[in-house]
Amino acid sequence: MSKPIQESELFRRLSTAKHGVIVVIGTGQWGKTATVHSLIQSGAFPDRNVVLVNYSKTFVAQHSYPDSYRALTWPEDISEIMEVIRPSRDVVVVDDAIFVAGARDSGTRENKGLQKMMTIASHNELFFLLTIQNTSMLDISMFQSQDVYMIHKHMDLVAIQNERDNQVIAQTIANIYLERHMSKYKGKVHPKSWGYCSTTKEMIAFDLPPWWEPAMSKPFYGRVPV
Ligand SMILES: Nc1ncnc2c1ncn2[C@@H]1O[C@H](COP(=O)(O)OP(=O)(O)OP(=O)(O)O)[C@@H](O)[C@H]1O
Ligand SMILES: [Mg+2]
Repeated sequence: MSKPIQESELFRRLSTAKHGVIVVIGTGQWGKTATVHSLIQSGAFPDRNVVLVNYSKTFVAQHSYPDSYRALTWPEDISEIMEVIRPSRDVVVVDDAIFVAGARDSGTRENKGLQKMMTIASHNELFFLLTIQNTSMLDISMFQSQDVYMIHKHMDLVAIQNERDNQVIAQTIANIYLERHMSKYKGKVHPKSWGYCSTTKEMIAFDLPPWWEPAMSKPFYGRVPV
């Protein structure tokens, strides 16, 4: 069974939560970034502002993001983070989290900072939304200490072979549901809209927000995030 976002268990749980980590995984170009914006647009985080980590301010200003969106450069010193992120009032989007939380960079300043931030997310009533192509690329400690919600977009078979053991079954189930829904709702729902939430075990259609522009898909076009 599939549901619009507002009727999903995921929406219900997020609307009553004060903190959490939402991880959107899947192969490139299957709609992870669009899903993050669609979930925010659905009203799952009412009255919160949206922080786009390491997006450039110019990029955000040049595109039609809602006024509640702002760009943020991850600070050099983690102790400065609470000067730029507001407890209870922000949703922190780490798009392509590999740049700040890659498993191979687990000793880096940013990664340690983000881990620390995750650990105190509950204390500060914050939501983190991460996108990543494969959880093997993400430092696992990133989401061990918090309430984690996993949303799976389509993942190629080769990529599944590289997945962490605990994700292989969930992603395989996700792919089966995703393929079924794409074929069942062909011509009615865009194939890239579908996401399987393995935390709440449901299919959800994440439609593009009304203000979406295709360029929003490439926030790091022409630059490497610092
Ligand atoms: N629900 C949807 N309906 C229509 N088009 C969509 C939908 N979701 C995504 N797209 C389109 O698919 C393309 C890829 O989407 P998106 O940038 O969200 O993918 P991604 O998984 O974040 O890719 P990457 O890993 O490269 O960052 C974009 O051109 C976007 O406009
Ligand atoms: Mg993306």
